[in-house]
Amino acid sequence: MRPAGLKTRIFLDGGDPDETRQAIDLLGFLDGQTTNPTLISKNPEVREAIDRGVRFSEKEIIAFYHDLVKKISAMIPQGSISVEVYADPATYADQMLRQGKEMFGWIPNAHIKFPTSKEGLKAAEQAVKGRLRVNMTLCFSQEQAAAVYAATRGAKKGEVFVSPFIGRLDDRGENGMDLIANILKMYSKGDGHVEVLTASVRTLDHLLCAIKLGSDIITAPFAILKEWGKKGLPMPKDDYTYDCGKLAAMPYQDIDLSKQWQEYNISHDLTVKGMERFSADWNALIKQS
Ligand code: E4P
Repeated sequence: MRPAGLKTRIFLDGGDPDETRQAIDLLGFLDGQTTNPTLISKNPEVREAIDRGVRFSEKEIIAFYHDLVKKISAMIPQGSISVEVYADPATYADQMLRQGKEMFGWIPNAHIKFPTSKEGLKAAEQAVKGRLRVNMTLCFSQEQAAAVYAATRGAKKGEVFVSPFIGRLDDRGENGMDLIANILKMYSKGDGHVEVLTASVRTLDHLLCAIKLGSDIITAPFAILKEWGKKGLPMPKDDYTYDCGKLAAMPYQDIDLSKQWQEYNISHDLTVKGMERFSADWNALIKQS
């Protein structure tokens, strides 16, 4: 059962419909799911095939992804399912948009994931004009979140998510949780059309702190949802404090949200690295001709 007072929507971050079923059974609710190429590559059926030496054609792996999100969508019909386009650092906006339009038709409740890069933002700008719902992934800075806000101006609430990846910032010594607080503070001065989806969650404390901060959505791996469920779905108490240990603070920047998205500094090495990793994991599944 959803805990009393929980306003944040809780998503599963995964690529295995069995986990979706288990998460629903364990929590008694689930508001959505996020997927990505790495998570698809870790799906047990895919792993089993790869271990047998099988490699897929591009058409086969896309058909597998399509089938998988259909299964997940049927389990969470009122929720949102994020489906990610293939995007390496050389993929153009029109190539991302073409894939996004196709994927958006797969299920009635899709959000299309585009990277928060120049080409990804270009694709998102066009996508929202065509009323596609988008989830801007691999966000690591407040300026990138400001660019997402600007590129998707005019979209309705619910149509746009931004996914700051807190765990990957923590991994390199920066307090990712600060980024969530900073983006929420910055967006509180806007029109509310972009929702913050806390991603790259590694610990139960990440989840509790994101609830406390008022993140609109959190996506967490099954292991974290399981830990939360087994503890009885605790909520952060009024005196809850997050211990970031030795992680360096990410200071708040006073950013004007009224600029054009191209005016923000959106470059971030972790966005590029993230695109490289997602595309490499995807390409490793495909037969080279
Ligand atoms: C979000 O949508 C992503 O799938 C995810 O949270 C990535 O997390 P990771 O840093 O653990 O790969």
